[in-house]
Amino acid sequence: MKKLLALSGAALLSVVAAAYAQQKAAVDPAKVDATVNAAFPAAPSDWAPRLTPDETMRQCSQTRNKPDKKTADAIEKREKAAIEYPADGNFIGDWKKGEALAQNGYGLRFSDYPPRRTTGGNCYACHQLTKKEVSYGTLGPSLLEYGKLRDYKPAAVKAAYEKIYNSHAALACSNMPRFGANKILTIDQIKDAVALLMSPDSPVNKGQ
Ligand code: HEC
Repeated sequence: MKKLLALSGAALLSVVAAAYAQQKAAVDPAKVDATVNAAFPAAPSDWAPRLTPDETMRQCSQTRNKPDKKTADAIEKREKAAIEYPADGNFIGDWKKGEALAQNGYGLRFSDYPPRRTTGGNCYACHQLTKKEVSYGTLGPSLLEYGKLRDYKPAAVKAAYEKIYNSHAALACSNMPRFGANKILTIDQIKDAVALLMSPDSPVNKGQ
C-alpha cells in the first residue's frame, strides 16, 4: 500500500510538473501580437489578414509549436478538412513548371507589390531537390529522389499534394507554408510541384 501511495505520489508530481512546464512555456497572445506588429510597422492595410494569426497559428505560437496531443489532433483534422482537391482527380502536373516554381521566391514580399509576375513556391529555400542546384536551405528535409523512394505509389502522390496544399494537415505546427490553404500557389501550381517530386523523369528522381 505504501509503495502504491509513493508511486501515485510520484505520478501526481510528474503530472503537476508537466502542467507547470506547459504553463511556463505558453506564450502570452498579446506578446505574439506585439511581436508581429513590430516586425511589420509599414504593412499596407490589405495585409491585415496575413498578419492576423488564424486559430492554427495562434495555437502554434502560444505553445511554441509544441501543442498537446489533443490540440495537435484538432489542428490536423481542421487543416485536412480545408484541403481542396483538383476537380479532375489528377495530382500530377508539369515537372518543368514545378522546377521553375521551386526556384522562384517571388511574391508576397513588400517589394512584390503590386505583383508583376506569378508567385513562386521557393521550395529550394528550405529543401534540397536536385543535385544540380547547389544553393538550397536545410530547414526542411532533402527531397532528393522523393518519388523513387516511395515507388511513385498513388497514396504517396496524394500525400505529397496534401503536404504542399496544407503542411499543417500532416504536422500540426509545421514550419512549411500552407501553400494552397493560404492561396500562395494555385491548385495547378501545386500539381506542378507534385510532378517535380513524383515524376520518374524529373531531375528529383533521376538524381540530377
Ligand atoms: C520555409 C521552409 C519551407 C518551404 C519554403 C517549403 N518547405 Fe517543405 N517542409 C519544410 C519543413 C520544415 C518540412 C518538415 C516538417 C514537415 O513535415 O512539416 C517540410 C516537409 C516537406 C515535405 C514532406 C517531407 C517528408 O518527409 O515526407 C514535402 C513533400 C515538402 N516539404 C515539399 C515542399 C515543396 C514542394 C515546397 C515548395 C512548393 C516546399 N516544401 C517549401 C519547410 C519548407
